[in-house]
Amino acid sequence: MKQTVNIGIIGLGARAETLLATIFDFDRQDVLVTAICDLNQERIDRILEIMKNHDYPVPAVYKDYKPLIASDAVDAVLVPTSWNSHLHIAEEAMKLGKYAGIEVGGASSLDELWHLVRAAESTGVSCMMLENCCYGRNELLCLNLARKGLLGELIHCECGYEHDLAEMARKDGKRSEREEHNFRRNGDLYPTHGIGPVAKILRINRGNRFMTLTSTASKARGFMREAERSGRGQIFYAEGDVVTTVIKCANGETVTMTHCVSLPRPYTRDLRVQGTKGIFLEDVKSVYIEGVSTTREEIDVAGNPYTVHDWTPVEDIYEKYDHPIWKKYKDKLVGGHGGMDGLILKAFFDAVRNRTAPPIDVYDCAAWMSITCLSEQSISMGGMPVAFPDFTDGKWIYEGGGAVGEWALDEVYE
Ligand SMILES: NC(=O)c1ccc[n+]([C@@H]2O[C@H](COP(=O)([O-])OP(=O)(O)OC[C@H]3O[C@@H](n4cnc5c(N)ncnc54)[C@H](O)[C@@H]3O)[C@@H](O)[C@H]2O)c1
Repeated sequence: MKQTVNIGIIGLGARAETLLATIFDFDRQDVLVTAICDLNQERIDRILEIMKNHDYPVPAVYKDYKPLIASDAVDAVLVPTSWNSHLHIAEEAMKLGKYAGIEVGGASSLDELWHLVRAAESTGVSCMMLENCCYGRNELLCLNLARKGLLGELIHCECGYEHDLAEMARKDGKRSEREEHNFRRNGDLYPTHGIGPVAKILRINRGNRFMTLTSTASKARGFMREAERSGRGQIFYAEGDVVTTVIKCANGETVTMTHCVSLPRPYTRDLRVQGTKGIFLEDVKSVYIEGVSTTREEIDVAGNPYTVHDWTPVEDIYEKYDHPIWKKYKDKLVGGHGGMDGLILKAFFDAVRNRTAPPIDVYDCAAWMSITCLSEQSISMGGMPVAFPDFTDGKWIYEGGGAVGEWALDEVYE
């Protein structure tokens, strides 16, 4: 087994800086950034400066990603470029035998997802989405509760991405790519932080699959209000302030997703996982689980008895039900987003080093990212149901499969 994983980073924006800061905490014998690439020289210079300040070995520098992915000096690539480019770059990397770690975001077309799937199938090389929220403490707690059967048979989940990013509309000049998407498109543009963990809990692609979705968008005022307030005048953004998507799964579960990035509100990923025996609810950071939470009998004003189910604060069950990953790493977390970045990178590098299936594979990428273009279609047809393609070509009917071991997200390994 090769000890050091040599990494190329393609796309050196803000996200690359956070990933790099996380990698600085890893042993250089384990993971070494040997090549970097961006179209923009300023971004290259900034990253080189950051690396120099950390006494990091100077990497090979590219403006074109093609020679980087062809280079023998890299075993795998991280691709935090943009929603419009990362899938194509990952596809090309796989075709050259390099594992690709793509950043989160939604797809613009089903076609680019099919290309990704076919590249993995024809080469046997993997692509992993670096969906860090799959390693969040509460998301993994829910996975653990679900696999232990404590929530009973799963019935309904909710998730979302509600993050006030309206400040995007304040800036004059060239729009960032993310702003451009919100300016021109109307759909659930950022589905994976929410749906990733939920899809794992529901065993999507491994005995279950997404069948159909419907999406509805509210009116769009948030970005326009922000642009007006900052003196830019009235600018109309296509993206509805609240996009609500309902997914129906093959095994009968429903998932409601909320995308809201243009209205003032605290951040949430809205997680709710509900089954026949219990529920986890992010908004109150609590669970109700039969046999774990308390239930009281009360008498109403008419003298009739009724049952009250009490919430159990999630803090009260961490010690017993934390996922093994959090039990092991909670006191030695590294990297951004409360340690989730460190965990997802460890999982990716582990798969690259051992040439094994990553915990989030190409079928997961395709199913989760397709929500964006499918929700656009549904919205544009007034909320009509749209069918998900079966990216697995029927393999979803088999339970099991997927990554095994410490970083697995399908089963829980103690
Ligand atoms: N997982 C998370 O928590 C998290 C957080 C923030 C951003 N992200 C994701 O990370 C990605 C990047 O986000 P960002 O904010 O850094 O974006 P950004 O626009 O700041 O940076 C992207 C960089 O990629 C470069 N680039 C684009 N196309 C390229 C190409 N073909 N070859 C080489 N370089 C290219 C651009 O020049 C730019 O420097 C997005 O997909 C975003 O959704 C994830």
